Amino acid sequence: MYLVSTKGTEDFASSLSEKSGNKLIRTEVQRFPDGEMYVRIEEDLTDKDVMVVANLRGDSQIIEAFFLLDACREMGCRKLYSLIPYFGYSRQHMAYKKGEAVSARVMMKNISEKSDRIFTVDIHDRSSFSFSSKPVDDFSASGPISRHFIKNDIDVVISPDDGAFERAKKVSENLKCRADYLEKKRISSNEVEHAVKNLDVQGKNVLLVDDIISTGNTIIDAAKIIKSQGAKKIFVSATHGLFLNNSSERIIREVNGLAVTNTLKGEYSRIDITGDLSRFMGDKIE
Ligand code: R5P
Repeated sequence: MYLVSTKGTEDFASSLSEKSGNKLIRTEVQRFPDGEMYVRIEEDLTDKDVMVVANLRGDSQIIEAFFLLDACREMGCRKLYSLIPYFGYSRQHMAYKKGEAVSARVMMKNISEKSDRIFTVDIHDRSSFSFSSKPVDDFSASGPISRHFIKNDIDVVISPDDGAFERAKKVSENLKCRADYLEKKRISSNEVEHAVKNLDVQGKNVLLVDDIISTGNTIIDAAKIIKSQGAKKIFVSATHGLFLNNSSERIIREVNGLAVTNTLKGEYSRIDITGDLSRFMGDKIE
């Protein structure tokens, strides 16, 4: 298997290459004078099995991912896999208001059209798999997240909404402790409100777990509620840390520890999932 990565996902792809022993192939990405993108894969991948590794983070990287998939096909690769660690646009997996585009469907359709099989990592909502014309497997980062926090004597794992409860439950099972969730209402794209709920966290060490930290507002609101209910220590984790507008600084002021996985590069991307992910994909492919 050969790995081909978008420029924005190269750190993750090179760690995956180290863990899996699969070679990461060099690519050339340039812009034409009119701003259009040019992409070229620098090695012959004819009859080879290839995995394109691409975060759908930012519209430019999305175009790059589509072009890389096309270039692999154009070269006559054998099997073509797509690994999408951060599946951007996944939060719009349905039309909430009349007239909206279902962006998750657009991404899934385009990726699956070119791929033989897709791998995702803690995608926001697995219902998006129904938009794919090819098999999709979602890797759960709950194992690596649990291992990272094992040293912190966690008493309860809490998700900031019921949608993320399954993930919190998996982590709590690994840490052999209790799980709970908060009830969240989204007021706007950057405002959230949590309903008052007794969480039984007095004097306890709490781990808050979500799939994505974007503006940080969800996790900060949740941390404040947990603190007000007398928690001893609060730790925060998520699979994907976008940390818009330096929200990691605001989060770290409220809690005792913060660590997310390395799907997206950043100061708090301290949980390397590439070893576990490589084994997960290996089991599915062979
Ligand atoms: C939403 O349902 C997701 O699971 C996250 O809770 C959300 O994306 C976090 O966004 P933010 O950090 O902007 O509050």
